Amino acid sequence: MRKAHILVVDDEIILRTALQSILTSQGFEVKTCESGQRALNLLQQEPFDLALVDVRLPDMNGLELMQEIKRISPDTGIIIITAYAEVKSAVRAIKEGAFDYLSKPFQEEELLITIEKFLKYRDLEKELKTLKEILPKSYLVKDLIGESKAIKEVLQKVELVAERDVPVLIYGESGTGKEVIADLIVQLSNRRDHPYIKLNCTAIPETLFEAELFGFEKGSFTGALESKKGKLELAHTGTILLDEIGDLPLSIQPKLLRVLETNSFYPLGSKREVKVNVRYIFSTSRDLKKLVEEGKFRDDLYYRINVIPIKMPPLRERKEDLPHLIKYFLQTFSEKYQKKIPEISKEAYLALLNYNYPGNVRELKHLLERALLLSKDNIITLRDLPEELWIDKEGSQSEINYYRCKELIEKELILKTLEDCKGKKSEAAKKLGISRKTLWQKIKKFDIKLTKN
Ligand SMILES: Nc1ncnc2c1ncn2[C@@H]1O[C@H](COP(=O)(O)OP(=O)(O)OP(=O)(O)O)[C@@H](O)[C@H]1O
Ligand SMILES: [Mg+2]
Repeated sequence: MRKAHILVVDDEIILRTALQSILTSQGFEVKTCESGQRALNLLQQEPFDLALVDVRLPDMNGLELMQEIKRISPDTGIIIITAYAEVKSAVRAIKEGAFDYLSKPFQEEELLITIEKFLKYRDLEKELKTLKEILPKSYLVKDLIGESKAIKEVLQKVELVAERDVPVLIYGESGTGKEVIADLIVQLSNRRDHPYIKLNCTAIPETLFEAELFGFEKGSFTGALESKKGKLELAHTGTILLDEIGDLPLSIQPKLLRVLETNSFYPLGSKREVKVNVRYIFSTSRDLKKLVEEGKFRDDLYYRINVIPIKMPPLRERKEDLPHLIKYFLQTFSEKYQKKIPEISKEAYLALLNYNYPGNVRELKHLLERALLLSKDNIITLRDLPEELWIDKEGSQSEINYYRCKELIEKELILKTLEDCKGKKSEAAKKLGISRKTLWQKIKKFDIKLTKN
């Protein structure tokens, strides 16, 4: 097995040489240097498993160096070396991600034990990562509810693109679950353990946009009292979700395009070019093509981000998902409010299935939460649902809708009975009070997949 590769950063030559000889005699591969800048150069040239960093360095603070190391080389572990009186910085270092600290003067044995501890910890972490990869993917998808063909198609696409670094554009009406899908892509990607930064383009005033995205140098504009990293830099090695990209101000669009093309940019007021490695996910509830036609969105940027489009279908086009979503949300909210999972009256259930949900899944989720809180005697009735569900404004309670609801309920009932009977059709037919033949016809009609028998 390869012995660990260790970097020692300390400006005191005596300590540096001592550490080098101790560690080399233990079979570690060791490089030493006296300054933060030199350390960063070395880290860019070769990978290190571990860096021993003195808190006081001539050119920068050890804690600052630690942040930079984490940025350039997130897999390198860090042990901070402090003077006896500097316990405070040591504690801060650990809070900010150092593995441990050693306070001077320390014994050889203490040093070696700390390093050994780190190596063991890192092996464990690696094992855990592999374990995560082996886990079936469905394990991670547990909070995305939906059995409809439309959702299954979305999921297939997600699985296909998740592990590749291509940009993804998720579009669809508000509340359809675009953010849920973005989160899922990140969870399934190789970047899952790296930063995941979300930026909502609607929420930021145009004047602050560049500062948010690219960061700024101290003094670069009035009010810039400290320099600050932008969201792009924070997302380095990970993923950024640019939410509601259709609202990106026109003035920023060419700048983002440039970043997408070169993976680099300059923070406001800075001559330091920042290079980033970021995976992009975009989402929009507006029609980007139309915005392009109206001259509100640049077409070159549109083509750049529209590499892999994923459409989230509105809930009214996948009503088969309603029973599952209703069940799921009632379960979650019952847990949240420590109530028993309620029953739903027949009329209320029909109304829930019949409604068209202009606000999509978000609207359903909110109205169920409210209904649960309003409900009495552990049953949700029409009264507990918002008016628009039961006052029929456009006469939409037409026969066609009524039958559609009936079919949904019928399908659910058959599914549940089959499940109860462990897939035994004759038993299920008996329970349902229909003939085997009728059951077969319905199974075919509703496209129910049988797992057993
Ligand atoms: N398939 C789903 N399963 C479970 N929860 C869902 C599903 N789809 C959406 N949700 C829930 O509905 C709410 C809205 O979803 P989300 O924020 O992803 O929508 P969105 O498309 O990004 O909306 P907007 O365009 O308004 O930002 C969230 O609380 C989310 O957890
Ligand atoms: Mg959203």
